[in-house]
Amino acid sequence: MTLSLNNKFVNKYVTNNDINNISGEIYEAQRLLMNKTGEGNTFLGWLDLPVDYDKEEFARIKKAAQKIQNSCDILIVIGIGGSYLGARAAIEYIKSAMYNNMKKNTPDIYFAGNSISSSALADLLKICEGKDICVNIVSKSGTTTEPAVAFRIFRALLEEKYGKDGARERIFATTDKAKGTLKSFSDDEGYETFVVPDDVGGRFSVLTAVGLLPIAVAGVDIDELMKGASDAREACFVEDINKNDALKYVAIRNQLYRQGKSTEILVSYEPSAQMLCEWWKQLFGESEGKDKKGIYPSSVIFSTDLHSLGQFIQDGERIMFETVLNIKKSSDTIIIPNDPNNIDKLNFLAGRELSFVNEQAMLGTLFAHSDGDVPNIVIDIEDRSAHSFGYLVYFFEYACAVSGYVLGVNPFNQPGVESYKKNMFALFGKEGYEELRLELQKRIDN
Ligand code: PA5
Repeated sequence: MTLSLNNKFVNKYVTNNDINNISGEIYEAQRLLMNKTGEGNTFLGWLDLPVDYDKEEFARIKKAAQKIQNSCDILIVIGIGGSYLGARAAIEYIKSAMYNNMKKNTPDIYFAGNSISSSALADLLKICEGKDICVNIVSKSGTTTEPAVAFRIFRALLEEKYGKDGARERIFATTDKAKGTLKSFSDDEGYETFVVPDDVGGRFSVLTAVGLLPIAVAGVDIDELMKGASDAREACFVEDINKNDALKYVAIRNQLYRQGKSTEILVSYEPSAQMLCEWWKQLFGESEGKDKKGIYPSSVIFSTDLHSLGQFIQDGERIMFETVLNIKKSSDTIIIPNDPNNIDKLNFLAGRELSFVNEQAMLGTLFAHSDGDVPNIVIDIEDRSAHSFGYLVYFFEYACAVSGYVLGVNPFNQPGVESYKKNMFALFGKEGYEELRLELQKRIDN
């Protein structure tokens, strides 16, 4: 089995009876999703993506990935939020958090346009000096400030370096299929374009060209990734909470929320899962955090963060529960060497695999945090393969959608994201925001 949920470290808080008690609500939420009758039902394209995707485009993605692999040292992926987190999560999880530093025959991949920091952009431009570059601009709307600014800069760089015709061969745009300025601009310029489907929101888009093109450039088998998602889809569609771990996860986290556990910490013992955690935070945060409701999603990498946040989790305010992502099979074997001087007194571990030590750290922490009154859900996932990643993505997307409905929110909109944008546009002096600008100016002056 690719994924399974273990409730041993949470059943003191959420018993089988508690799961049964909430199951009616869970089934109702699952029905809303499957019958497409819930709020946000025009954004359910992701539900069938693993089995019903554009095969012609999928083949074009593979071809474009090869072209990029053959023509550049560096691929710059420009996008923010749902337009970059999934791709980065996949590359780091499946390949390595240090992918760019590894010996490989695929291009380095850097992500830009996900902040407005001049230093970050300047550093990246320095890294690109003397290198052959391709760019994948990813923006459904085409007007998001952060990626739009970065794209201006990289487009100018490519046009200067390769001329307009050369740049055209190196710029790939993933955007809306028909509307939006990026689509019409790309068509005018002759860039190859890929589609963000109308009915798939940004944070649910990793299994579209948004994620698949950069992931394929990194040399990941995207057929396997889709197969993982498709296997998860089959498991998630089961209408029996005792045979469906996604529904069980929803039941447990919502029961914990009702007991006042308002923060969920996604835990991994693999640094390569850090960006997966970031992707997961966006997925749950943007989907559930509205109408003054929602479980606050946070994440840690252990044992690293046991030496920073460990104290709080063990002993601080009891507001959280943990969801531990336990990657069962380590990709590499490292044996702890013997030290004749035994200066650290660790020779009892000599000859042991490092992964054994990591497993014992996890087990020890599970017991310690349970003793510290922190409920722990454990999700066992087979390995760091493309198949497992695809499985995890779909598992969490499905659970997130059902959970949003249980909570009574629309899991597919993000009205709150607009507030900062409006203020930012007003402060830029953008046309149409004059009144807001005056109001903000007054608040600044006071
Ligand atoms: O999940 C979302 O919808 C957002 O995170 C968007 O992906 C993000 O704001 C970027 O938007 P766009 O792709 O339109 O540039």
